Amino acid sequence: MVGGMKSSIVSFRDYLPKKDAFTTELIFGLSQADKSIPCKYFYDERGSELFDQICNLPEYYLTRTEEFLLQEKAAEIAELLGPEVLIIEYGCGSIQKVRVIIDSLRNPVGYIAVDISPEHLRIAAEKLAQDYPSMEVHAICADFSNSFKLPRGLTRQRCVGFFLGSTIGNFGYKHAAKLLSQIAAHVGPGGGLVIGVDLKKDESVLFDAYNDASGITAEFNLNLLSHINSQFGATFDLNDFEHEARYNCVEGRIEMYLVSRRAHSVRVGENLFYFAENEKIHTENSYKYDI
Ligand code: AVJ
Repeated sequence: MVGGMKSSIVSFRDYLPKKDAFTTELIFGLSQADKSIPCKYFYDERGSELFDQICNLPEYYLTRTEEFLLQEKAAEIAELLGPEVLIIEYGCGSIQKVRVIIDSLRNPVGYIAVDISPEHLRIAAEKLAQDYPSMEVHAICADFSNSFKLPRGLTRQRCVGFFLGSTIGNFGYKHAAKLLSQIAAHVGPGGGLVIGVDLKKDESVLFDAYNDASGITAEFNLNLLSHINSQFGATFDLNDFEHEARYNCVEGRIEMYLVSRRAHSVRVGENLFYFAENEKIHTENSYKYDI
């Protein structure tokens, strides 16, 4: 219920792990010889906003390319999926791209939004529910890199997963395969999957997409530290770190790092972490595939 108005979404489920589990994972990553922080921490409120800005950057070709493809293939995809489809979108963000498909589907029965950023998710799902009143809209706040259960009892002809934006690129091959198995289990026999995967291409094109001239990607990367500060009582100073993104052609992936500008220590709860000058925190992989 918002401001006394009836909510348009049918349900909101919070399946986020307990804070303790997050803390353990965070401390583990920072305790390794090669420090890392999982990329899901990008997406607090501010991070989700910054990601939306990234999607509009001239250098970030992914979003507009995928939007173009979805538009071009919407009728064909809708025909293949058939009537009375139930959609589950993993990492739905602002729930914009999928609309062109929903508009083409015959009698879609429902949409399940899955994302890690609770407020952003609620607002996006509310908007979708208002714009598509005949569809049942559920929101699940979850870290879909772990397994979770779907609401039961929704009648449909077919259940279809949407996994767009090349989000699969954030996972190594083993983990990606596990995720696809979970999606297969969710959609069940006769189910489907529409997936967006970014391809390998000219290195300079890849490099620029993660090193935009306006510095939004740098801000997005650094915002991860603000998120950790406010959620875990850490003492990262954003001025002590610098954005780095580079293409690793052996692994076929973009790697993002936060590089320490000087030797210093940072407190995360009870723990103290030492950073040498130029020491890096690995914050994201973005695998690029071939056909
Ligand atoms: C949302 C994971 C697909 O890897 O391209 C954008 C996130 N990171 N710029 C990507 C991201 C830096 C994005 N994904």
